Amino acid sequence: LSTQGFSGSTDPIMEMLNASISYDQRLSEVDIQGSMAYAKALEKAGILSKTELEKILGGLGKISEEWSQGVFVLKQTDEDIHTANERRLKELIGDVAGKLHTGRSRNDQVVTDLKLFMKNSLSVISTHLLRLVETLVERAAVEIDVILPGYTHLQKAQPIRWSHFLLSHAVALTRDSERLGEVKRRINVLPLGSLNSMDAVSERDFVVEFLSVATLLMIHLSKMAEDLIIYSTTEFGFLTLSDAYSTGSSLMPQKKNPDSLELIRSKAGRVFGRLAAILMVLKGLPSTYNKDLQEDKEAVFDVVDTLNAVLQVATGVISTLQINKESMERALSPEMLATDLALYLVRKGMPFRQAHVASGKAVQLAETKGVTINHLSLQDLQNISPLFGSDVAQVFSVVTSVEQYTAAGGTAKSSVTAQIEQLRELLKRL
Ligand code: ARG
Repeated sequence: LSTQGFSGSTDPIMEMLNASISYDQRLSEVDIQGSMAYAKALEKAGILSKTELEKILGGLGKISEEWSQGVFVLKQTDEDIHTANERRLKELIGDVAGKLHTGRSRNDQVVTDLKLFMKNSLSVISTHLLRLVETLVERAAVEIDVILPGYTHLQKAQPIRWSHFLLSHAVALTRDSERLGEVKRRINVLPLGSLNSMDAVSERDFVVEFLSVATLLMIHLSKMAEDLIIYSTTEFGFLTLSDAYSTGSSLMPQKKNPDSLELIRSKAGRVFGRLAAILMVLKGLPSTYNKDLQEDKEAVFDVVDTLNAVLQVATGVISTLQINKESMERALSPEMLATDLALYLVRKGMPFRQAHVASGKAVQLAETKGVTINHLSLQDLQNISPLFGSDVAQVFSVVTSVEQYTAAGGTAKSSVTAQIEQLRELLKRL
């Protein structure tokens, strides 16, 4: 900006460091929308005449067309999108353009613009996120009869439905969706005419909130990616990614690398980095606007772009991957039913703590005998506890196992179906 009181010219490298036009031109459209609204307010306040308002609105409309047609010509002196649009407005309509900035500062404009941009971007991100949740839910509905090992500490735990696993990720993502909605609510409050002018031009809570919500969302996607990477190894062999989301090795012909999932995992680090950077910029700033705040836009743009890409790729991965039921079933070793054996004794009246010990003894005995627990004789089991009867054979079925968990949130077919229904309902409302 050429301003009174400045006679010397700026160091060209300083100009480069100072200019934000290379990236904030992404705000061109919202900057014009903000100015149009502001011009109307100036007319209401009696600062612009009707004719002046029409001139300004006409000029701004023309600039908007130039941007959308890609013919807006930037000048060396255009420091940021606000100065560029105002410079052009003056070229188009003359000195009356200078009235538009009455009572406002670029500090108001930049917050208005960024909030308008984010409002639009958050809607797009939410749509992509809901598509992903829907894809997980509908896949869960189709493959509800598939059973695989559930893991804790990455050690085989208990059998679960594949759908239960898919829904565990869907549920986490619905919380992210709610959080995005909350951020959007606060973004909807614009600074012009707001509660406190000093706070309005300098608070970037909405940026921090968005980047935090985005980081948590990315952490959820990273977890899901990591699970799927593990399941796609030849050692597990539970699933195969489609070609559209994998790459080959330039050296080893047998390889199919899960690059899509690895990128999702790594972008979680990238997004968190953007959050950390903004928090560092904000820390120690005095009140109101400081040029440090210019850093906010690249962080927001980068995270918006990253989320949009990552969410669509994640949806693609989930909708196209192929599962290998046989490998999943093969991995369901009988030892994973040791808990069920304990629960059998609980049903016969034994306290769980004792039943846990008894079942542990059965696992140990099977190991000594070199057989799996389902191959211990009834006599062997009765030596451990007289409560074992011939009906114990029913315990050794993975279907029986998962079907025990009929409580809300469980892995029985009825519970998983209920989860699917609940999520479908939620998706209608979100
Ligand atoms: N380009 C600036 C930014 O992104 C706009 C605000 C400039 N305000 C100022 N007083 N220098 O934050």
